[in-house]
Amino acid sequence: MYDPRRVEELIARWENGERDAEMRKVRNEVFDVLTLRNIYKLMERRVIGRLLRVISTGKEANVFEAMDPRGNPLAVKLYRVETSEFRHLRKYIEGDPRFGRLRRDRRHLVDLWTRKEFKNLDTAYRHGVSVPVPFAVRGNVLVMELITKDGAPAPLLRSAELEDPEGFAESLLDSAGRLYFGAGLVHADLSEYNILVSDRGPVIIDMGQSVPWDHPLSVEFFRRDMDRLRGILASLGREYSFNELVSILKERGAQWKKM
Ligand SMILES: Nc1ncnc2c1ncn2[C@@H]1O[C@H](COP(=O)(O)OP(=O)(O)OP(=O)(O)O)[C@@H](O)[C@H]1O
Ligand SMILES: [Mg+2]
Repeated sequence: MYDPRRVEELIARWENGERDAEMRKVRNEVFDVLTLRNIYKLMERRVIGRLLRVISTGKEANVFEAMDPRGNPLAVKLYRVETSEFRHLRKYIEGDPRFGRLRRDRRHLVDLWTRKEFKNLDTAYRHGVSVPVPFAVRGNVLVMELITKDGAPAPLLRSAELEDPEGFAESLLDSAGRLYFGAGLVHADLSEYNILVSDRGPVIIDMGQSVPWDHPLSVEFFRRDMDRLRGILASLGREYSFNELVSILKERGAQWKKM
């Protein structure tokens, strides 16, 4: 859908005020044009220099490898407005006291979702969780640190070989402790698909759906995350019961708060 060269060309034409038939032919026209405008504004603000290539094309979002104007690497996540998964987003935002009443239109909800991911990453980052550093958000476009391994975008835990499973498990426990019991956020989609294996160990990504503890479904989401985390840790050679895991995470979250 998003050939980076094409995106740049479309941005240039948008800038020139062109609205020709070819531009109108682009799939999901309004979304594309508004997304282009958001990218263009971020270029104007000198947050983004250029888009390089697609890292991932998913159901909800496309992620690009990009560069800032000085040539530093970035990851740019573009949320889709037309998404089949759209309805399920509501349950992660409704009841989150950080956000007000929801309007009905998709665009508004997707923009809110993107801001929510930015805010969650920011809170996690400030509490010492290993996440991509969030840099900027505009509409449905989120700009963050590019997580790499050996100079390329980092692989998912799902598909990576670990050089040091012990160290990886330790560092994952630290991050999870800080996330759930330092930052006070429940990831709500923790899995081996949302943990990257990078040069600096595990990095937790994909936090659009994450909620604070006072969200009405936080405990349900927490239980599911803990089941997944127990599975991941077991595959790294560490078996914990639910209660054992929770007390380890609480301890690590509290340690961070004291620092
Ligand atoms: N900061 C980043 N650095 C490097 N790669 C990233 C970064 N953020 C995301 N990715 C890559 O993009 C993929 C999709 O990102 P993410 O998990 O945040 O989106 P998603 O909401 O799961 O998208 P979808 O559900 O539509 O696939 C990740 O699996 C990862 O490979
Ligand atoms: Mg994901």
